[in-house]
Amino acid sequence: MRLTPQRACTSLTVVRERAAVTPMSVRPILKFGEPVLHTPAETVGTFDDRLAGLFVDMVDTMYAAPGIGLAAPQIGVPLRAIVVDLSVGEDPAQLIQLVNPELVERDGSQRHDEGCLSVPGFEGAPPRPERVVVKGRSIGGDERTYTATGLLARAFCHEIDHLDGLLFVDRLSPLRRDLLKRRLRKRFRHED
Ligand code: NI
Repeated sequence: MRLTPQRACTSLTVVRERAAVTPMSVRPILKFGEPVLHTPAETVGTFDDRLAGLFVDMVDTMYAAPGIGLAAPQIGVPLRAIVVDLSVGEDPAQLIQLVNPELVERDGSQRHDEGCLSVPGFEGAPPRPERVVVKGRSIGGDERTYTATGLLARAFCHEIDHLDGLLFVDRLSPLRRDLLKRRLRKRFRHED
């Protein structure tokens, strides 16, 4: 999930400072139209060093973008793994790394503009629940449960959607979705 412009400025500074001291494993972020972004991802069954390495890459890529969330399919890995950090690296306590996340409760509704690192330059306001409970596993395989409201709830929904092959565009009303998809196909075809 992409940042709002105001927050992007401060976060970029943080990322540059981090880059000087932290070895980065930033991977290219795939864009709208890549099949892996439009296909449901597979459940993770093995909690090994390779999975841990995937999370290092996801976190570094999210911070470098900068973004507040990233799903494994966005770097071309078709597995159910997400990272979310509303502080974009400013507060280590806010980093959430989840394997096989599932929405187990949803209440209320909210609607705010969302951007996506895989759909740069476009925004849309899909309907989201105001509060969610998300269950998943840590990188080591331990059970984790998060209760989230507001922006964090939206971020969880946005990233879990990626694991089901859905982008925010797919959640818009049919009219807005078709309009936006026409523009997106034109835009991202030109970059091939
Ligand atoms: Ni996204």
